[in-house]
Amino acid sequence: MSEEIQKFTVTIDGESIQVAPGTTILNAARQIGGKIVPPAMCYYSSLKGSGGKCRTCLVEVSKGSEKDPRPMPKLVASCSTTVMDGMEVKNITSPKVLNARKGVVEFLLLNHPLDCPICDQAGECHLQDLAFEHGVAKTRYEFKRREFDKIDIGDYIKLHMTRCILCYRCVYTANQLTDSREHGVLKRGDAAEIGTFLEKNLNNDFIGNVIDVCPVGALTDKTFRFRSRVWYTNPVDANCECNKCSGKAVLWMIGDEVARVTARKDQYGEVKEFICNECRFDKKEVAKWNIEGPRKISRHSVISANHYEQPIPEHTTLLNKA
Ligand code: SF4
Ligand code: FES
Repeated sequence: MSEEIQKFTVTIDGESIQVAPGTTILNAARQIGGKIVPPAMCYYSSLKGSGGKCRTCLVEVSKGSEKDPRPMPKLVASCSTTVMDGMEVKNITSPKVLNARKGVVEFLLLNHPLDCPICDQAGECHLQDLAFEHGVAKTRYEFKRREFDKIDIGDYIKLHMTRCILCYRCVYTANQLTDSREHGVLKRGDAAEIGTFLEKNLNNDFIGNVIDVCPVGALTDKTFRFRSRVWYTNPVDANCECNKCSGKAVLWMIGDEVARVTARKDQYGEVKEFICNECRFDKKEVAKWNIEGPRKISRHSVISANHYEQPIPEHTTLLNKA
């Protein structure tokens, strides 16, 4: 006789769902979907140990559970707090949360340069989206910002430490996806930085994935740097025969040229199937790929600007269609 697992009911911003015990508030919100899903800059569902660092996912627990309805005294990180039966959570309906998130964004931007006009990540940057939604127009910070030289870490990856928000995603990716640990967060507090052990290069077969998991433009693809703004490229889904990875990727095309290859990300910006370095950096000829078709891009993303999938408004005349 199969034992039925008792599910917990949790209500987030007025929407209820039943989830398995042990589910985090963030993942329960993701199961509901839409605007109530808290932003996450450090949590990454496929990386063990991720989450709990950036505080962008803070929520208010207005009712702890059916058994103990007391609210939680402080805002909690939704990526690392598990649901209880009867729990009630407020995200976008809580002025406290929105105010705290504003503060978190201000902290994340303290040392972050205003690089967006030249940064390769612009248009795909989670910090840019977060700043747009929750940021303030001016900084109150009066001290000297952290300065770093740009560092080549291996043949394919450039590190701009000034842009790093110390989310640890790249460290977990390298630890969990590749055979040897070659980089990590060195030092502590405001001296903390991403560093490689004794200037070692990052050259494992899957190390290119650190570029995809980085939520900002701190780790960039040297084969694509400054080649184009992402919204001038046409992304297509493609696959290839590969004996190291699934071979499922996105080709970012400029005309007939493959300008960049990335793994495929879901609606939360997470890669579900990581790709190997060979697919990412060495297969830049269309002939090496089977093209599946245009990549679906959210119409709210700047990447969809001037995109061929955008419907032409009905009132557009033939003259301005040309
Ligand atoms: S380099 Fe990117 S992925 Fe790595 S810790 Fe910094 S922000 Fe996170
Ligand atoms: S996503 Fe929860 S603390 Fe960063």
